[in-house]
Amino acid sequence: MSMQKIGSDTAVLADCIEVPGIGFLPVNAFVLLADEPVVVDTGLSLPDRNFLSALSSVMDPADVRWIWLTHPDRDHTGGLFDLLVAAPNARVVTTFIGAGIMSTEHPLPMDRVRLVNPGQSLDVGGGRTLRAFRPPLFDNPATVGFYDDRTRTCFTSDCFGAPMPSAEAAVDGTAADLDPEDLRAAQLLWATVDSPWVHTVDTGKYLATLQPLSAMDAENVLCTHLPPAVGLAPRMLDTLAQAPGSAPFVGPDQQALEQMLAGFEPGPDGAVPPQAM
Ligand SMILES: [Fe+2]
Ligand SMILES: [Fe+2]
Repeated sequence: MSMQKIGSDTAVLADCIEVPGIGFLPVNAFVLLADEPVVVDTGLSLPDRNFLSALSSVMDPADVRWIWLTHPDRDHTGGLFDLLVAAPNARVVTTFIGAGIMSTEHPLPMDRVRLVNPGQSLDVGGGRTLRAFRPPLFDNPATVGFYDDRTRTCFTSDCFGAPMPSAEAAVDGTAADLDPEDLRAAQLLWATVDSPWVHTVDTGKYLATLQPLSAMDAENVLCTHLPPAVGLAPRMLDTLAQAPGSAPFVGPDQQALEQMLAGFEPGPDGAVPPQAM
């Protein structure tokens, strides 16, 4: 994972995963060095990732007070339980549904949970308040993003994601590095992959869900699946407005998978490398 500072007290811990045929999907976690420090999501659940070591490049994990789990998908929960051990005073910010989903695999200790619904706020000390909201696009019913008006930073979970053309662009770049048309196309692709329901919604009602984000007037948009985006919120909201009318994503079928696999060099033991799957 690499680390990038946004402003004076917000950091991005950036990782990525290659999705064949789609690109390099950023997988970010974030750190907010508030009076009561906040970690937002905890990275991929792959055995070779060490979230605590990445977090240590920003702060002592023992001092974390809040782990804002934007939703309990496995690309957000990788370091969650290690961090709960390392940070004895930390609580997991989630919803009733989020805690319920976690209970199907690895239950959260309920005395270390803080339930925050969209529309509610979390006080993180020093008069700083994080306002929870439901992002317009999401793939999990527990999804809750938040807005930090101290830094005008909006944390949007999966919403605004975009696969990148290279691992370097995914991990070390910013969203502004991409040609605007390429960024628009990649965000629409992700919107249709991650939120396929967007093609079935009442467009007027959907567009109304973009308004609260527009009203926030965020300077920084920090999405789990996009390099940091500074000064791009209006343009990215215009892109999201086009999502219902964009082409639905259809994944590779078995024939396409076999063609893909035939294109990979087998390893010495004849096995196909796992990242090819
Ligand atoms: Fe997700
Ligand atoms: Fe995700």
